[in-house]
Amino acid sequence: MKKAIVFGANGELGSEVCKQLTKLMEVIPVSRREITFGGIDEEINIKEIIDYHKPDFIVNCTGKFGGNDADFLEIFNSNVNSTWAFIRYFINNSISKPVRYVAIGSSAYREGRREYMLYSSSKAALMNLMQGAQEYFAESNLSLSLINLPGLDSKMRQSAKGKNNSENLMSVETAVNRILELGLMQFEGTNWDVRE
Ligand SMILES: NC(=O)c1ccc[n+]([C@@H]2O[C@H](COP(=O)([O-])OP(=O)(O)OC[C@H]3O[C@@H](n4cnc5c(N)ncnc54)[C@H](OP(=O)(O)O)[C@@H]3O)[C@@H](O)[C@H]2O)c1
Repeated sequence: MKKAIVFGANGELGSEVCKQLTKLMEVIPVSRREITFGGIDEEINIKEIIDYHKPDFIVNCTGKFGGNDADFLEIFNSNVNSTWAFIRYFINNSISKPVRYVAIGSSAYREGRREYMLYSSSKAALMNLMQGAQEYFAESNLSLSLINLPGLDSKMRQSAKGKNNSENLMSVETAVNRILELGLMQFEGTNWDVRE
């Protein structure tokens, strides 16, 4: 049976990913209790988790939204460093079987957003990072994909836009369906923009 590790598993998308993926394979949920990206033990913890579980799939649902009063390190540790930590791990450790890594981005990567400049720039950095990693690992057992989601009917979106702005937004359930379809089923080691 294939095995997936879901990071950010306590979050809104992460818990739905765990719920939907459990129907397809063994799922190991990982939350901040096991690893804090940007924390001092990050490198040791990531190595322990991956070496122990030897996953076929890694779905990284870690992320942090914030407006212009957000803390730079919190936003970048969560949205960029959480993927850089995996890339570093795979640069330094050989990959003996096919592994798929899926990260979650945002449509905000496409242009700066005046209400949440740090968040949108962190998602642009994530896109660039993933493109570099896709080239770096092109001939290896590791394939990587970034799924850029639109604003969802979610708590993260409500914190950005307020509770009354959820009309006609994609549900978390549908978004996770798309993540699994694009990231795991039709996997081509590429990046996808999920449209509203
Ligand atoms: N929701 C949306 O509308 C939307 C739209 C587009 C893209 N996205 C992206 O989708 C991803 C998931 O979003 P979500 O709505 O599920 O957010 P969420 O409910 O806030 O979940 C994010 C998870 O990441 C964890 N986390 C954050 N920073 C961390 C760190 N430095 N180390 C370890 N864990 C950390 C959080 O743990 P704590 O609770 O302990 O902080 C939480 O469990 C994010 O990358 C987000 O940018 C979301």
